[in-house]
Amino acid sequence: MTNKAFDVVVVGGGPGGYIAAIRAAQLGLSAACIDDWKSGAGGPALGGTCTNIGCIPSKALLQSSENFEQAGHHFADHGIDVGALKLDLKKLLARKDAIVKQNNDGIAYLFKKNKVAFFHGTGSFVKAVDGGYEIAVAGAASETLTARHVVVATGSSPRQLPGAAFDEDRIVSNDGALRIPAVPKTLGVVGSGVIGLEMGSVWRRLGAEVTILEALPSLLPMADEAVAKEALRAFGRQGLKLQFGVRIGEVKATKKGVSVAYTDAKGAAATLEVERLIVSIGRVPHTAGLNPAAVGLKLDERGAVVVDDECRTNLAGVWAIGDVVRGPMLAHKAEEEGVAVAERIAGQHGHVDFNTIPWVIYTSPEIAWVGQTEAQAKAAGRAVRTGQFPFKANGRARALGDTTGFVKFVADAASDEILGVHVIGPLASELIAEAVVAMSFKASSEDIARICHAHPSLSEATREAALAVDKRTLNL
Ligand code: FAD
Ligand code: NAI
Repeated sequence: MTNKAFDVVVVGGGPGGYIAAIRAAQLGLSAACIDDWKSGAGGPALGGTCTNIGCIPSKALLQSSENFEQAGHHFADHGIDVGALKLDLKKLLARKDAIVKQNNDGIAYLFKKNKVAFFHGTGSFVKAVDGGYEIAVAGAASETLTARHVVVATGSSPRQLPGAAFDEDRIVSNDGALRIPAVPKTLGVVGSGVIGLEMGSVWRRLGAEVTILEALPSLLPMADEAVAKEALRAFGRQGLKLQFGVRIGEVKATKKGVSVAYTDAKGAAATLEVERLIVSIGRVPHTAGLNPAAVGLKLDERGAVVVDDECRTNLAGVWAIGDVVRGPMLAHKAEEEGVAVAERIAGQHGHVDFNTIPWVIYTSPEIAWVGQTEAQAKAAGRAVRTGQFPFKANGRARALGDTTGFVKFVADAASDEILGVHVIGPLASELIAEAVVAMSFKASSEDIARICHAHPSLSEATREAALAVDKRTLNL
Protein backbone atom coordinates (compact mmCIF):
# COMPACT_ATOMS: atom_id res chain seq x y z
CA MET A 1 0.00 0.00 0.00
CA THR A 2 1.33 3.40 -0.99
CA ASN A 3 0.05 6.84 -0.19
CA LYS A 4 0.31 9.37 -2.95
CA ALA A 5 -0.69 13.02 -2.89
CA PHE A 6 -2.06 14.95 -5.86
CA ASP A 7 -3.54 18.36 -6.53
CA VAL A 8 -6.39 16.72 -8.44
CA VAL A 9 -7.73 13.17 -8.40
CA VAL A 10 -10.36 12.40 -11.02
CA VAL A 11 -12.59 9.39 -10.36
CA GLY A 12 -13.72 8.00 -13.73
CA GLY A 13 -11.83 7.88 -17.02
CA GLY A 14 -14.67 8.55 -19.48
CA PRO A 15 -14.72 11.62 -21.75
CA GLY A 16 -15.47 13.86 -18.77
CA GLY A 17 -12.83 12.42 -16.45
CA TYR A 18 -9.93 11.80 -18.79
CA ILE A 19 -10.24 15.23 -20.34
CA ALA A 20 -10.43 16.88 -16.89
CA ALA A 21 -7.24 15.06 -15.83
CA ILE A 22 -5.38 16.06 -19.00
CA ARG A 23 -6.45 19.70 -18.77
CA ALA A 24 -5.45 19.82 -15.07
CA ALA A 25 -2.01 18.42 -15.94
CA GLN A 26 -1.64 20.92 -18.82
CA LEU A 27 -2.23 23.68 -16.27
CA GLY A 28 0.66 22.48 -14.12
CA LEU A 29 -1.37 20.61 -11.48
CA SER A 30 -0.34 17.14 -10.37
CA ALA A 31 -3.21 14.99 -11.64
CA ALA A 32 -4.32 11.39 -11.27
CA CYS A 33 -7.21 9.50 -12.81
CA ILE A 34 -8.78 6.37 -11.34
CA ASP A 35 -10.88 4.21 -13.68
CA ASP A 36 -12.21 0.72 -13.19
CA TRP A 37 -13.30 -0.26 -16.74
CA LYS A 38 -11.90 -3.65 -17.70
CA SER A 39 -11.07 -4.82 -21.20
CA GLY A 40 -12.01 -8.36 -22.24
CA ALA A 41 -8.57 -9.46 -21.02
CA GLY A 42 -9.10 -7.74 -17.65
CA GLY A 43 -6.69 -4.87 -18.21
CA PRO A 44 -7.60 -1.18 -18.27
CA ALA A 45 -9.80 0.19 -21.05
CA LEU A 46 -9.83 3.95 -20.69
CA GLY A 47 -12.59 6.08 -22.17
CA GLY A 48 -15.60 4.97 -20.16
CA THR A 49 -19.02 4.29 -21.63
CA CYS A 50 -18.30 6.53 -24.60
CA THR A 51 -15.27 4.63 -25.83
CA ASN A 52 -16.14 1.11 -24.73
CA ILE A 53 -19.89 0.68 -25.20
CA GLY A 54 -21.20 4.05 -26.37
CA CYS A 55 -20.31 6.72 -28.90
CA ILE A 56 -17.36 5.03 -30.58
CA PRO A 57 -18.50 1.42 -31.09
CA SER A 58 -22.02 2.51 -32.01
CA LYS A 59 -20.68 4.84 -34.68
CA ALA A 60 -18.41 2.09 -36.01
CA LEU A 61 -21.43 -0.21 -36.38
CA LEU A 62 -23.55 2.57 -37.86
CA GLN A 63 -20.91 3.13 -40.54
CA SER A 64 -20.46 -0.57 -41.35
CA SER A 65 -24.19 -1.20 -41.51
CA GLU A 66 -24.74 1.92 -43.63
CA ASN A 67 -22.08 0.67 -46.07
CA PHE A 68 -23.92 -2.65 -46.22
CA GLU A 69 -27.21 -0.88 -46.87
CA GLN A 70 -25.64 1.33 -49.55
CA ALA A 71 -24.02 -1.61 -51.30
CA GLY A 72 -27.22 -3.65 -51.14
CA HIS A 73 -29.75 -1.01 -52.07
CA HIS A 74 -28.17 2.11 -53.50
CA PHE A 75 -24.97 1.25 -55.41
CA ALA A 76 -27.15 0.09 -58.30
CA ASP A 77 -28.40 3.69 -58.67
CA HIS A 78 -24.81 4.62 -59.51
CA GLY A 79 -24.53 1.84 -62.07
CA ILE A 80 -22.47 -0.32 -59.73
CA ASP A 81 -23.44 -3.97 -59.57
CA VAL A 82 -21.84 -5.74 -56.61
CA GLY A 83 -23.70 -9.00 -57.18
CA ALA A 84 -24.94 -10.97 -54.20
CA LEU A 85 -23.86 -9.35 -50.94
CA LYS A 86 -22.44 -11.40 -48.11
CA LEU A 87 -22.20 -10.17 -44.56
CA ASP A 88 -19.29 -11.24 -42.38
CA LEU A 89 -20.73 -10.15 -39.04
CA LYS A 90 -17.79 -11.53 -37.08
CA LYS A 91 -15.41 -9.30 -39.02
CA LEU A 92 -17.74 -6.33 -38.78
CA LEU A 93 -17.85 -6.69 -34.98
CA ALA A 94 -14.08 -7.28 -34.80
CA ARG A 95 -13.49 -4.03 -36.72
CA LYS A 96 -15.59 -2.21 -34.13
CA ASP A 97 -13.59 -3.81 -31.30
CA ALA A 98 -10.32 -2.77 -32.95
CA ILE A 99 -11.52 0.83 -33.19
CA VAL A 100 -12.46 0.78 -29.50
CA LYS A 101 -9.00 -0.58 -28.63
CA GLN A 102 -7.29 2.17 -30.66
CA ASN A 103 -9.22 4.74 -28.65
CA ASN A 104 -8.44 3.02 -25.30
CA ASP A 105 -4.74 2.98 -26.18
CA GLY A 106 -4.88 6.57 -27.42
CA ILE A 107 -6.08 7.81 -24.03
CA ALA A 108 -3.40 5.78 -22.20
CA TYR A 109 -0.83 7.45 -24.49
CA LEU A 110 -2.30 10.90 -23.75
CA PHE A 111 -2.01 10.23 -20.01
CA LYS A 112 1.69 9.40 -20.43
CA LYS A 113 2.27 12.40 -22.67
CA ASN A 114 0.63 14.77 -20.17
CA LYS A 115 2.02 13.05 -17.06
CA VAL A 116 -1.35 12.08 -15.66
CA ALA A 117 -0.93 9.24 -13.13
CA PHE A 118 -3.37 6.43 -13.87
CA PHE A 119 -4.74 3.95 -11.35
CA HIS A 120 -6.78 0.99 -12.58
CA GLY A 121 -9.42 0.17 -10.01
CA THR A 122 -12.46 1.47 -8.20
CA GLY A 123 -12.01 4.77 -6.40
CA SER A 124 -13.98 5.44 -3.23
CA PHE A 125 -14.03 8.26 -0.74
CA VAL A 126 -12.47 7.33 2.61
CA LYS A 127 -12.59 10.58 4.56
CA ALA A 128 -11.89 14.29 4.48
CA VAL A 129 -8.36 15.10 5.58
CA ASP A 130 -6.56 18.35 6.27
CA GLY A 131 -6.84 20.35 3.02
CA GLY A 132 -8.42 17.60 0.94
CA TYR A 133 -9.74 14.08 0.71
CA GLU A 134 -8.48 10.55 0.99
CA ILE A 135 -9.48 8.20 -1.84
CA ALA A 136 -8.94 4.44 -1.77
CA VAL A 137 -8.27 2.60 -5.02
CA ALA A 138 -9.33 -1.05 -5.05
CA GLY A 139 -7.91 -2.82 -8.07
CA ALA A 140 -5.06 -5.11 -8.99
CA ALA A 141 -3.07 -3.18 -6.37
CA SER A 142 -4.50 -1.24 -3.42
CA GLU A 143 -3.54 2.40 -3.12
CA THR A 144 -4.56 5.35 -1.04
CA LEU A 145 -4.44 8.73 -2.69
CA THR A 146 -4.91 12.14 -1.16
CA ALA A 147 -6.18 15.03 -3.22
CA ARG A 148 -6.69 18.74 -2.71
CA HIS A 149 -9.46 18.51 -5.31
CA VAL A 150 -11.57 15.52 -6.37
CA VAL A 151 -13.48 15.45 -9.65
CA VAL A 152 -16.26 12.87 -9.68
CA ALA A 153 -16.80 11.68 -13.26
CA THR A 154 -18.32 8.26 -12.67
CA GLY A 155 -20.83 8.40 -15.53
CA SER A 156 -24.11 6.57 -15.93
CA SER A 157 -25.55 3.10 -16.42
CA PRO A 158 -28.52 1.84 -18.43
CA ARG A 159 -31.94 1.85 -16.80
CA GLN A 160 -33.61 -1.55 -16.62
CA LEU A 161 -37.28 -2.32 -17.20
CA PRO A 162 -38.82 -3.41 -13.90
CA GLY A 163 -38.86 -7.21 -13.79
CA ALA A 164 -36.69 -7.60 -16.89
CA ALA A 165 -33.04 -7.56 -15.83
CA PHE A 166 -30.45 -7.34 -18.59
CA ASP A 167 -28.96 -10.75 -19.37
CA GLU A 168 -27.00 -9.21 -22.29
CA ASP A 169 -28.06 -12.18 -24.38
CA ARG A 170 -31.82 -12.04 -25.00
CA ILE A 171 -32.59 -8.84 -23.09
CA VAL A 172 -29.76 -6.47 -23.83
CA SER A 173 -28.67 -2.99 -22.86
CA ASN A 174 -26.58 -0.82 -25.18
CA ASP A 175 -23.67 -3.11 -24.22
CA GLY A 176 -25.17 -6.36 -25.51
CA ALA A 177 -26.74 -4.50 -28.45
CA LEU A 178 -23.23 -3.82 -29.77
CA ARG A 179 -22.24 -7.48 -29.88
CA ILE A 180 -25.23 -9.59 -30.94
CA PRO A 181 -23.40 -12.56 -32.48
CA ALA A 182 -25.82 -13.28 -35.35
CA VAL A 183 -28.27 -10.94 -37.06
CA PRO A 184 -31.62 -11.75 -35.42
CA LYS A 185 -34.62 -12.28 -37.69
CA THR A 186 -36.69 -10.19 -35.31
CA LEU A 187 -35.49 -7.55 -32.89
CA GLY A 188 -37.58 -5.60 -30.40
CA VAL A 189 -36.50 -2.27 -28.96
CA VAL A 190 -38.14 -0.61 -25.97
CA GLY A 191 -37.67 3.15 -26.16
CA SER A 192 -37.40 5.24 -29.34
CA GLY A 193 -34.77 7.59 -27.92
CA VAL A 194 -31.27 8.03 -29.24
CA ILE A 195 -29.98 4.50 -28.52
CA GLY A 196 -33.18 2.85 -29.74
CA LEU A 197 -33.03 4.67 -33.06
CA GLU A 198 -29.28 4.24 -33.60
CA MET A 199 -29.06 0.57 -32.60
CA GLY A 200 -32.42 -0.24 -34.20
CA SER A 201 -31.05 1.25 -37.45
CA VAL A 202 -27.84 -0.80 -37.25
CA TRP A 203 -29.63 -4.14 -36.94
CA ARG A 204 -32.38 -3.25 -39.45
CA ARG A 205 -29.73 -2.40 -42.06
CA LEU A 206 -28.05 -5.74 -41.37
CA GLY A 207 -31.32 -7.59 -42.01
CA ALA A 208 -33.38 -7.75 -38.79
CA GLU A 209 -37.06 -6.90 -38.70
CA VAL A 210 -37.08 -4.21 -36.04
CA THR A 211 -40.06 -3.14 -33.93
CA ILE A 212 -39.66 -0.21 -31.55
CA LEU A 213 -42.13 0.24 -28.69
CA GLU A 214 -42.27 3.75 -27.22
CA ALA A 215 -44.24 4.93 -24.20
CA LEU A 216 -44.64 8.53 -25.37
CA PRO A 217 -47.23 9.46 -27.98
CA SER A 218 -44.72 10.71 -30.57
CA LEU A 219 -41.15 10.44 -31.85
CA LEU A 220 -38.33 12.62 -30.50
CA PRO A 221 -40.34 15.19 -28.53
CA MET A 222 -37.11 17.06 -27.69
CA ALA A 223 -36.40 17.74 -31.38
CA ASP A 224 -38.04 20.45 -33.48
CA GLU A 225 -41.49 19.24 -34.53
CA ALA A 226 -40.72 19.56 -38.25
CA VAL A 227 -37.59 17.44 -37.79
CA ALA A 228 -39.43 14.80 -35.75
CA LYS A 229 -42.12 14.53 -38.45
CA GLU A 230 -39.54 14.18 -41.24
CA ALA A 231 -37.65 11.57 -39.19
CA LEU A 232 -40.79 9.54 -38.62
CA ARG A 233 -41.49 9.49 -42.36
CA ALA A 234 -37.90 8.52 -43.20
CA PHE A 235 -37.69 5.72 -40.60
CA GLY A 236 -41.09 4.41 -41.74
CA ARG A 237 -39.89 4.28 -45.37
CA GLN A 238 -36.85 2.29 -44.25
CA GLY A 239 -39.07 -0.30 -42.60
CA LEU A 240 -38.46 0.49 -38.90
CA LYS A 241 -41.76 -0.38 -37.22
CA LEU A 242 -42.51 2.24 -34.59
CA GLN A 243 -45.39 2.04 -32.12
CA PHE A 244 -46.16 4.92 -29.78
CA GLY A 245 -48.16 5.29 -26.58
CA VAL A 246 -47.48 1.72 -25.44
CA ARG A 247 -47.43 0.46 -21.85
CA ILE A 248 -44.97 -2.36 -21.39
CA GLY A 249 -46.23 -5.26 -19.27
CA GLU A 250 -44.48 -8.55 -18.56
CA VAL A 251 -41.21 -9.18 -20.38
CA LYS A 252 -40.13 -12.83 -20.43
CA ALA A 253 -37.01 -14.43 -21.85
CA THR A 254 -38.18 -17.64 -23.55
CA LYS A 255 -36.32 -20.49 -25.22
CA LYS A 256 -36.82 -18.90 -28.63
CA GLY A 257 -36.27 -15.30 -27.60
CA VAL A 258 -38.23 -12.69 -25.70
CA SER A 259 -41.92 -12.12 -25.28
CA VAL A 260 -43.07 -8.59 -24.49
CA ALA A 261 -46.64 -8.07 -23.33
CA TYR A 262 -47.90 -4.53 -23.75
CA THR A 263 -50.98 -2.44 -24.31
CA ASP A 264 -51.04 -0.29 -27.41
CA ALA A 265 -52.09 3.36 -27.68
CA LYS A 266 -55.76 2.34 -27.89
CA GLY A 267 -55.46 0.25 -24.75
CA ALA A 268 -55.62 -3.09 -26.57
CA ALA A 269 -53.48 -5.93 -25.18
CA ALA A 270 -50.72 -7.14 -27.51
CA THR A 271 -47.61 -9.30 -27.42
CA LEU A 272 -44.38 -8.86 -29.34
CA GLU A 273 -42.35 -12.04 -29.85
CA VAL A 274 -38.76 -11.34 -30.88
CA GLU A 275 -35.44 -13.14 -30.91
CA ARG A 276 -33.72 -10.37 -28.95
CA LEU A 277 -34.82 -7.25 -27.13
CA ILE A 278 -32.86 -4.03 -26.70
CA VAL A 279 -34.02 -2.00 -23.72
CA SER A 280 -33.04 1.64 -24.18
CA ILE A 281 -35.24 3.64 -21.83
CA GLY A 282 -32.67 6.11 -20.59
CA ARG A 283 -29.65 6.01 -18.32
CA VAL A 284 -29.17 6.68 -14.61
CA PRO A 285 -26.27 8.41 -12.83
CA HIS A 286 -23.71 5.94 -11.51
CA THR A 287 -22.13 6.31 -8.07
CA ALA A 288 -21.91 2.65 -7.00
CA GLY A 289 -18.49 2.04 -5.47
CA LEU A 290 -17.75 5.73 -4.90
CA ASN A 291 -18.94 5.72 -1.28
CA PRO A 292 -20.25 9.29 -1.34
CA ALA A 293 -21.70 8.87 2.16
CA ALA A 294 -18.20 8.63 3.67
CA VAL A 295 -17.72 12.36 3.10
CA GLY A 296 -21.37 13.48 2.96
CA LEU A 297 -21.44 14.13 -0.81
CA LYS A 298 -25.00 15.15 -1.67
CA LEU A 299 -26.99 13.18 -4.28
CA ASP A 300 -30.48 14.03 -5.56
CA GLU A 301 -33.46 11.67 -5.68
CA ARG A 302 -32.28 10.32 -9.08
CA GLY A 303 -28.88 9.50 -7.63
CA ALA A 304 -27.13 12.34 -9.49
CA VAL A 305 -24.42 14.28 -7.68
CA VAL A 306 -25.89 17.70 -6.89
CA VAL A 307 -23.86 20.49 -8.49
CA ASP A 308 -24.25 24.17 -9.24
CA ASP A 309 -23.77 25.71 -12.71
CA GLU A 310 -19.99 25.47 -12.21
CA CYS A 311 -19.98 21.77 -11.20
CA ARG A 312 -19.28 22.51 -7.52
CA THR A 313 -20.79 19.95 -5.14
CA ASN A 314 -21.85 20.60 -1.54
CA LEU A 315 -18.24 19.84 -0.46
CA ALA A 316 -15.40 22.32 -0.86
CA GLY A 317 -12.85 20.91 -3.30
CA VAL A 318 -15.17 18.19 -4.67
CA TRP A 319 -16.50 18.72 -8.19
CA ALA A 320 -18.68 16.52 -10.39
CA ILE A 321 -19.09 16.44 -14.17
CA GLY A 322 -20.67 14.54 -17.06
CA ASP A 323 -23.43 11.95 -16.91
CA VAL A 324 -23.33 11.73 -13.12
CA VAL A 325 -24.71 15.30 -12.84
CA ARG A 326 -27.69 17.21 -14.27
CA GLY A 327 -27.94 18.11 -17.94
CA PRO A 328 -27.78 16.13 -21.16
CA MET A 329 -25.89 12.84 -21.09
CA LEU A 330 -23.52 13.66 -23.94
CA ALA A 331 -19.80 13.02 -24.25
CA HIS A 332 -18.98 16.54 -25.46
CA LYS A 333 -20.97 18.08 -22.58
CA ALA A 334 -18.94 15.93 -20.16
CA GLU A 335 -15.70 17.05 -21.86
CA GLU A 336 -16.62 20.72 -21.70
CA GLU A 337 -17.38 20.41 -18.00
CA GLY A 338 -14.09 18.56 -17.47
CA VAL A 339 -12.08 21.36 -19.11
CA ALA A 340 -13.97 24.08 -17.25
CA VAL A 341 -13.53 22.40 -13.84
CA ALA A 342 -9.79 21.88 -14.34
CA GLU A 343 -9.48 25.55 -15.28
CA ARG A 344 -11.46 26.65 -12.22
CA ILE A 345 -9.25 24.51 -9.96
CA ALA A 346 -6.23 26.24 -11.51
CA GLY A 347 -7.76 29.62 -10.69
CA GLN A 348 -8.97 30.38 -14.21
CA HIS A 349 -12.51 31.20 -15.34
CA GLY A 350 -13.63 28.00 -17.06
CA HIS A 351 -16.97 28.36 -18.82
CA VAL A 352 -19.54 26.06 -20.42
CA ASP A 353 -22.26 27.58 -22.55
CA PHE A 354 -25.15 25.16 -21.99
CA ASN A 355 -27.20 26.95 -24.69
CA THR A 356 -24.87 25.89 -27.47
CA ILE A 357 -24.38 22.19 -26.79
CA PRO A 358 -25.24 20.36 -30.00
CA TRP A 359 -27.26 17.14 -30.18
CA VAL A 360 -26.64 14.61 -32.91
CA ILE A 361 -28.47 11.38 -33.68
CA TYR A 362 -26.40 9.31 -36.09
CA THR A 363 -29.23 7.61 -37.92
CA SER A 364 -29.79 7.93 -41.63
CA PRO A 365 -30.85 10.64 -42.18
CA GLU A 366 -28.69 12.15 -39.45
CA ILE A 367 -30.43 14.53 -37.07
CA ALA A 368 -28.66 17.41 -35.36
CA TRP A 369 -29.66 20.55 -33.58
CA VAL A 370 -28.42 23.31 -31.35
CA GLY A 371 -30.38 25.83 -29.33
CA GLN A 372 -34.13 26.14 -29.10
CA THR A 373 -36.82 24.48 -31.18
CA GLU A 374 -39.45 26.74 -32.68
CA ALA A 375 -41.93 25.61 -30.02
CA GLN A 376 -39.47 26.20 -27.16
CA ALA A 377 -38.63 29.70 -28.39
CA LYS A 378 -42.33 30.57 -28.67
CA ALA A 379 -43.07 29.05 -25.26
CA ALA A 380 -40.29 31.28 -23.85
CA GLY A 381 -42.26 34.27 -25.13
CA ARG A 382 -40.09 35.06 -28.15
CA ALA A 383 -41.53 36.26 -31.45
CA VAL A 384 -39.61 34.21 -34.02
CA ARG A 385 -39.00 34.01 -37.75
CA THR A 386 -38.05 30.66 -39.24
CA GLY A 387 -36.35 29.67 -42.48
CA GLN A 388 -36.18 26.19 -43.97
CA PHE A 389 -34.32 24.81 -46.97
CA PRO A 390 -34.66 21.25 -48.29
CA PHE A 391 -31.70 19.13 -49.37
CA LYS A 392 -33.63 18.15 -52.49
CA ALA A 393 -32.81 21.63 -53.82
CA ASN A 394 -29.09 21.25 -52.97
CA GLY A 395 -26.74 20.16 -55.77
CA ARG A 396 -24.29 18.30 -53.55
CA ALA A 397 -27.08 16.33 -51.86
CA ARG A 398 -28.35 15.30 -55.32
CA ALA A 399 -24.85 14.22 -56.31
CA LEU A 400 -24.56 12.22 -53.10
CA GLY A 401 -27.93 10.62 -53.83
CA ASP A 402 -29.20 11.66 -50.43
CA THR A 403 -31.80 14.41 -50.58
CA THR A 404 -33.86 13.62 -47.49
CA GLY A 405 -34.45 16.41 -45.03
CA PHE A 406 -33.72 20.08 -44.58
CA VAL A 407 -32.01 22.77 -42.54
CA LYS A 408 -34.22 24.98 -40.39
CA PHE A 409 -33.33 28.24 -38.65
CA VAL A 410 -35.22 29.74 -35.75
CA ALA A 411 -34.33 33.41 -35.29
CA ASP A 412 -35.56 36.20 -33.06
CA ALA A 413 -38.11 38.23 -35.05
CA ALA A 414 -36.80 41.57 -33.82
CA SER A 415 -33.02 41.17 -33.46
CA ASP A 416 -32.58 38.28 -35.97
CA GLU A 417 -30.30 36.52 -33.42
CA ILE A 418 -30.17 32.80 -34.17
CA LEU A 419 -32.05 30.93 -31.41
CA GLY A 420 -31.78 27.44 -32.84
CA VAL A 421 -30.72 25.48 -35.90
CA HIS A 422 -32.17 22.08 -36.78
CA VAL A 423 -30.82 19.77 -39.45
CA ILE A 424 -32.10 16.45 -40.71
CA GLY A 425 -30.24 15.04 -43.65
CA PRO A 426 -26.82 14.01 -44.93
CA LEU A 427 -23.90 14.81 -42.60
CA ALA A 428 -26.09 16.82 -40.25
CA SER A 429 -23.49 15.91 -37.58
CA GLU A 430 -20.89 18.00 -39.39
CA LEU A 431 -23.18 20.76 -40.64
CA ILE A 432 -24.31 21.61 -37.12
CA ALA A 433 -20.82 22.85 -36.20
CA GLU A 434 -21.32 26.03 -38.23
CA ALA A 435 -24.52 26.74 -36.33
CA VAL A 436 -22.75 26.14 -32.99
CA VAL A 437 -20.02 28.62 -33.93
CA ALA A 438 -22.59 31.13 -35.13
CA MET A 439 -24.65 30.89 -31.95
CA SER A 440 -21.55 31.04 -29.76
CA PHE A 441 -20.73 34.36 -31.40
CA LYS A 442 -24.37 35.48 -31.08
CA ALA A 443 -24.69 35.68 -34.86
CA SER A 444 -27.86 36.67 -36.68
CA SER A 445 -29.34 34.64 -39.51
CA GLU A 446 -28.27 37.48 -41.82
CA ASP A 447 -24.64 36.90 -40.76
CA ILE A 448 -24.81 33.33 -42.09
CA ALA A 449 -26.74 34.44 -45.17
CA ARG A 450 -23.94 36.88 -46.04
CA ILE A 451 -21.07 34.38 -45.66
CA CYS A 452 -19.61 32.70 -48.76
CA HIS A 453 -20.20 28.92 -48.65
CA ALA A 454 -18.35 26.55 -50.98
CA HIS A 455 -20.22 25.24 -54.01
CA PRO A 456 -21.36 22.57 -54.35
CA SER A 457 -21.60 21.71 -50.66
CA LEU A 458 -24.23 20.66 -48.18
CA SER A 459 -23.38 23.78 -46.19
CA GLU A 460 -25.08 25.83 -48.91
CA ALA A 461 -28.34 24.46 -47.52
CA THR A 462 -27.43 26.10 -44.20
CA ARG A 463 -26.89 29.43 -45.93
CA GLU A 464 -30.12 29.06 -47.89
CA ALA A 465 -32.07 28.27 -44.70
CA ALA A 466 -30.61 31.46 -43.21
CA LEU A 467 -31.71 33.35 -46.33
CA ALA A 468 -35.13 31.74 -45.98
CA VAL A 469 -35.59 33.51 -42.63
CA ASP A 470 -35.76 36.71 -44.70
CA LYS A 471 -37.81 34.93 -47.40
CA ARG A 472 -35.12 35.36 -50.03
CA THR A 473 -33.72 31.94 -50.89
CA LEU A 474 -31.77 31.97 -54.14
CA ASN A 475 -32.19 28.33 -55.14
CA LEU A 476 -35.77 27.61 -54.19
P1 FAD B 1 -18.61 7.58 -18.62
O1 FAD B 1 -18.22 7.63 -20.03
O2 FAD B 1 -19.75 6.70 -18.23
O3 FAD B 1 -17.32 7.16 -17.82
C1 FAD B 1 -17.34 6.91 -16.45
C2 FAD B 1 -16.15 6.02 -16.13
O4 FAD B 1 -15.99 5.98 -14.72
C3 FAD B 1 -16.33 4.57 -16.57
O5 FAD B 1 -15.14 4.10 -17.15
C4 FAD B 1 -16.61 3.83 -15.28
O6 FAD B 1 -16.20 2.47 -15.30
C5 FAD B 1 -15.76 4.65 -14.32
N1 FAD B 1 -16.17 4.58 -12.91
C6 FAD B 1 -17.40 4.67 -12.39
N2 FAD B 1 -17.35 4.63 -11.04
C7 FAD B 1 -16.03 4.51 -10.72
C8 FAD B 1 -15.32 4.44 -9.49
N3 FAD B 1 -15.96 4.51 -8.33
N4 FAD B 1 -13.98 4.30 -9.54
C9 FAD B 1 -13.32 4.25 -10.74
N5 FAD B 1 -13.95 4.33 -11.91
C10 FAD B 1 -15.28 4.46 -11.90
N6 FAD B 1 -22.73 10.83 -26.44
C11 FAD B 1 -22.39 11.66 -27.44
O7 FAD B 1 -22.09 12.83 -27.19
N7 FAD B 1 -22.35 11.22 -28.74
C12 FAD B 1 -22.67 9.95 -29.07
O8 FAD B 1 -22.63 9.59 -30.24
C13 FAD B 1 -23.05 9.07 -28.03
N8 FAD B 1 -23.37 7.80 -28.32
C14 FAD B 1 -23.70 6.95 -27.30
C15 FAD B 1 -24.07 5.66 -27.62
C16 FAD B 1 -24.44 4.78 -26.62
C17 FAD B 1 -24.81 3.37 -26.98
C18 FAD B 1 -24.41 5.20 -25.26
C19 FAD B 1 -24.75 4.26 -24.15
C20 FAD B 1 -24.05 6.50 -24.94
C21 FAD B 1 -23.71 7.38 -25.95
N9 FAD B 1 -23.37 8.71 -25.68
C22 FAD B 1 -23.06 9.55 -26.70
C23 FAD B 1 -23.35 9.22 -24.30
C24 FAD B 1 -21.91 9.23 -23.76
O9 FAD B 1 -21.38 7.93 -23.85
C25 FAD B 1 -21.90 9.73 -22.34
O10 FAD B 1 -22.56 10.98 -22.25
C26 FAD B 1 -20.47 9.88 -21.85
O11 FAD B 1 -19.79 8.67 -21.91
C27 FAD B 1 -20.44 10.42 -20.42
O12 FAD B 1 -19.12 10.57 -20.04
P2 FAD B 1 -18.69 10.52 -18.51
O13 FAD B 1 -17.23 10.79 -18.50
O14 FAD B 1 -19.57 11.37 -17.70
O15 FAD B 1 -18.97 9.01 -18.03
P1 NAI C 1 -33.34 8.41 -24.21
O1 NAI C 1 -33.68 9.22 -23.03
O2 NAI C 1 -32.74 9.06 -25.39
O3 NAI C 1 -34.65 7.68 -24.73
C1 NAI C 1 -35.38 6.81 -23.91
C2 NAI C 1 -36.73 6.59 -24.56
O4 NAI C 1 -37.38 5.52 -23.89
C3 NAI C 1 -37.64 7.81 -24.45
O5 NAI C 1 -38.23 8.08 -25.69
C4 NAI C 1 -38.66 7.38 -23.40
O6 NAI C 1 -39.91 7.98 -23.57
C5 NAI C 1 -38.72 5.89 -23.65
N1 NAI C 1 -39.18 5.11 -22.49
C6 NAI C 1 -38.84 5.29 -21.20
N2 NAI C 1 -39.44 4.35 -20.43
C7 NAI C 1 -40.16 3.57 -21.28
C8 NAI C 1 -40.98 2.43 -21.08
N3 NAI C 1 -41.18 1.89 -19.88
N4 NAI C 1 -41.55 1.88 -22.17
C9 NAI C 1 -41.36 2.39 -23.41
N5 NAI C 1 -40.59 3.48 -23.65
C10 NAI C 1 -39.99 4.04 -22.59
O7 NAI C 1 -32.44 7.22 -23.65
P2 NAI C 1 -31.51 6.16 -24.38
O8 NAI C 1 -31.90 5.97 -25.80
O9 NAI C 1 -31.51 4.99 -23.47
O10 NAI C 1 -30.11 6.85 -24.37
C11 NAI C 1 -29.58 7.34 -23.15
C12 NAI C 1 -28.78 8.56 -23.39
O11 NAI C 1 -27.54 8.23 -23.97
C13 NAI C 1 -29.39 9.55 -24.38
O12 NAI C 1 -30.39 10.34 -23.80
C14 NAI C 1 -28.20 10.35 -24.74
O13 NAI C 1 -27.98 11.29 -23.73
C15 NAI C 1 -27.10 9.32 -24.75
N6 NAI C 1 -26.85 8.91 -26.13
C16 NAI C 1 -26.44 9.85 -27.02
C17 NAI C 1 -26.22 9.51 -28.34
C18 NAI C 1 -25.81 10.57 -29.29
O14 NAI C 1 -25.45 11.64 -28.85
N7 NAI C 1 -25.83 10.31 -30.59
C19 NAI C 1 -26.37 8.15 -28.82
C20 NAI C 1 -26.87 7.25 -27.80
C21 NAI C 1 -27.06 7.64 -26.51
